[in-house]
Amino acid sequence: MSKHHEQDLVDEVSGAPKTVTVDEPSGVESVEALAQEAARKAKKAKKAEREKLKAERKAAKKAAKKGKKAKDTKDDKAAKESKKGFATRDEDAAELPDGESPKLFEPLTLRSVTFRNRIWMPPMDTYSVFAQDGKPTPFHYQHYVSRAMGGFGLIIAESTAVAPEGRISPNDVGLWDDSQIDAWRWIVADVKKAGAVAGVQLNHGGRKASTGSFSLGYINETVPSDKGGWQPLAPSPIPFGKCTIPVEMTTDQIHAVVDQFRAAAQRAVWAGFQVVEIHAAHGYLLSEFLDPLSNHRTDEYGGSFENRIRLLVEVVDAVRGVLPDELPLFVRVSATDWSVEKGSWDLKQTIALSHALKEHGVDLMDVSTGGIIAGVTIPAAPNYQVPFSDAVHHQASIPTTAVGLITDAVQAEKIVRSDQASAVEIGRAALRDPYWPLRAAAELGVSKQDAPYQPQYVRGAYGTTR
Ligand SMILES: Cc1cc2nc3c(=O)[nH]c(=O)nc-3n(C[C@H](O)[C@H](O)[C@H](O)COP(=O)(O)O)c2cc1C
Repeated sequence: MSKHHEQDLVDEVSGAPKTVTVDEPSGVESVEALAQEAARKAKKAKKAEREKLKAERKAAKKAAKKGKKAKDTKDDKAAKESKKGFATRDEDAAELPDGESPKLFEPLTLRSVTFRNRIWMPPMDTYSVFAQDGKPTPFHYQHYVSRAMGGFGLIIAESTAVAPEGRISPNDVGLWDDSQIDAWRWIVADVKKAGAVAGVQLNHGGRKASTGSFSLGYINETVPSDKGGWQPLAPSPIPFGKCTIPVEMTTDQIHAVVDQFRAAAQRAVWAGFQVVEIHAAHGYLLSEFLDPLSNHRTDEYGGSFENRIRLLVEVVDAVRGVLPDELPLFVRVSATDWSVEKGSWDLKQTIALSHALKEHGVDLMDVSTGGIIAGVTIPAAPNYQVPFSDAVHHQASIPTTAVGLITDAVQAEKIVRSDQASAVEIGRAALRDPYWPLRAAAELGVSKQDAPYQPQYVRGAYGTTR
């Protein structure tokens, strides 16, 4: 069955909104069914909670009428709490189980690293290295340290290239050279001082490398060499959308990429990062190898599932080899490419991959989707990627993060409370509100003492009047 969809999307490379209309793939019906089932359950639970609340209010009114002391409703309790000068509870927060502290603000420990909460900032490329030397700048310092001060438990620095030709755009940051370590160090140090864990996403852009940015133009196109562009590499000479035809990598070039990830991970550790995330999602090099639609190789890196995951497993082994045992390793995957093609990358293969990566020392799967096939419809809606996180988390028995249109405190709390993910990532909402976790703490009734305020900012805490 094929349906037509018109969808507003945000282009990951440019951040620009775009609308696409394409046939909805029939091969994802089971995944969609999962998402619909989750949405149906959430709606039912919400309705039941509302009815309970209504009944409580009715009973309280009746009791008050009789002149008896009415039992506190959740709203009454929230009003009292806010009067105490602490946090406020909004109507939605009243839906959370009474008397329990929010799971969103429970610490999480992976290996020896403890995250103060489960609200994390996902990697988001800012395309802001105007000198094109891969070194983060004072803009990056401000960008990351302000979100750490805003209460995020983990800050994952944006797509960071393991080689110059692995940059998504000429304006990307990198860790391909020792001279870049110091440019990261002061950012990492102050992210940690603000109480957040500092992570970095290592990436090779593959056939989507050398594309444009807001400052250069050439959005979703290959940047010409006289503007700082280069010839991109890929498993097979198949272009992405309007991008140039990439060069098919030789075995030596594949082995070199493994070495580049290893060296970049070593530099990340020297810079002070406590989490390394390998980017194997969104149609960049490692995910191009995973998907038979972009990998037509006939050697040991193409064809069977084992062959297609080989490069990622080799990269994981290389990175794990230089990461101290106490530091966790994450992998970001696209759990589906949302394609109609039979045999293309899907949830089933993602779960099998997650099982394999766990055996190779991966501690958490950061579950996203899409980005592999140009122009495909992504049914973006609140929680649309949560069922994928849920499936990977439970079927591969590995911690996960959920990401994608999670914007509201109660919505986020419900995802972690129902164990659909170990943590949530707040992306675009964090771009407009660096202090998202502080607002969420107030909405969920966390006291200002327990919320992740910087000591200097406690007097500005929600609900404080003096
Ligand atoms: C401007 C921008 C840049 C992004 N860059 C990256 C990136 O470098 N690496 C990555 O894995 N995802 C990247 N993403 C995807 C986000 O990490 C996140 O998965 C996506 O925005 C969905 O989450 P949200 O709805 O909370 O924004 C980017 C998204 C945006 C909006």
